Amino acid sequence: MEDIQQYNFIVKSNIHNYEVNFIDNVKKSLEIELKKGDFIIIDNKVKFLYPDWFEDVLVNYNYIGIDAAESQKSYQEVEPVINTLIERGFRKNHRLIAIGGGITQDVTAFIASILYRGVQWYFFPTTLLAQGDSCIGSKTSINFGKFKNQVGGFYPPNKIYVDPKFLNTLPFRELQSGLGEMAHYFVVAGEEDFDRYKRDYEQALIDKNVLRGVIARSLEIKKSYIEIDEYDKNERQVFNYGHSFGHAIESLTNYGIPHGIAISFGMDMSNFVSMKKGYITSELRQNSRELFEKIWDGYADQVKRLDIDTYLVALSKDKKNKGTLLGLILNKGYGKVFKDFTENDMIFRSWIVEYFANELNY
Ligand SMILES: NC(=O)c1ccc[n+]([C@@H]2O[C@H](COP(=O)([O-])OP(=O)(O)OC[C@H]3O[C@@H](n4cnc5c(N)ncnc54)[C@H](O)[C@@H]3O)[C@@H](O)[C@H]2O)c1
Ligand SMILES: [Zn+2]
Repeated sequence: MEDIQQYNFIVKSNIHNYEVNFIDNVKKSLEIELKKGDFIIIDNKVKFLYPDWFEDVLVNYNYIGIDAAESQKSYQEVEPVINTLIERGFRKNHRLIAIGGGITQDVTAFIASILYRGVQWYFFPTTLLAQGDSCIGSKTSINFGKFKNQVGGFYPPNKIYVDPKFLNTLPFRELQSGLGEMAHYFVVAGEEDFDRYKRDYEQALIDKNVLRGVIARSLEIKKSYIEIDEYDKNERQVFNYGHSFGHAIESLTNYGIPHGIAISFGMDMSNFVSMKKGYITSELRQNSRELFEKIWDGYADQVKRLDIDTYLVALSKDKKNKGTLLGLILNKGYGKVFKDFTENDMIFRSWIVEYFANELNY
């Protein structure tokens, strides 16, 4: 993986295989890829930030600008986009080209999967979360009312073009969030990967070449799981590590905490419970926490004030639960993350009380 500029790989999918290409000239790649009749769906902010890359192309090709807000991922907001596509002559043999982060991805993928029973789509991810995680894996959810990511399916793009130069304009907290999200892949992968990630973390925030390597490795780890369990029924479920605990934090804070940062708390909570259950030592937990603390820097005050009972109710709604048992992804060591069931009883409650009372004080 020396020359990551040229780094390309194929992801095998039950739907159709697709290619990930690391590129260093978005304008050129777009000009080569675009065909007459294609439609670009672009995040308005990205369009505004990169006029030199997009001005000409947007004059010569059809495009729809969207605002990257969660409200955009809804039936109501998707409808006018589909309407424009049909009215302006988009046909089944044309392609959608998404340029933006996870929101632009989900909107485009969802439309591509249903319009004319499926059209091809291509993706230029522009956030760290999208480049290092969501761009592969085929998931296409939109929100349903206040229920997040509840409607959708699996429908991968035909090709993904990753240019980390987009990340030069990404706000710092979005970078941290992307690094928090990617961290769970490195715990799942094993000690060597985690150690390297922990070592590279600070450098990755300031050096795009280091970050490029981290993105490539994160995708490589994810690829090895989605290729054997694309539909998230078995092996892929370990990537829920940190997510049950993290989603409950997101839901209680009304999504005021960026996803990857909520997940960094979630991974520490999962490790805390794993330690209480005797699965890992406090040393191992501390070793990972040193990284998570850097990721969630500044957010602990907000999280420690969450109401315990509301938090436990949110956890009890997780779809991995069975009856009163919480289906949690716990940790027996790096590379040994697994699904475990824990009774949602007074002992579990006391662990959560202890966590919020003692573990987030600085
Ligand atoms: N389909 C999947 O597999 C999957 C996986 C994880 C997350 N998601 C979804 O992705 C969404 C979150 O995506 P996200 O974090 O990539 O962000 P996003 O699309 O919400 O973008 C975050 C913010 O960054 C801005 N932005 C985008 N690119 C930029 C750039 N290069 N420079 C400056 N600003 C830029 C956007 O306008 C927005 O304000 C959520 O809705 C989540 O549910 C989907
Ligand atoms: Zn996530």
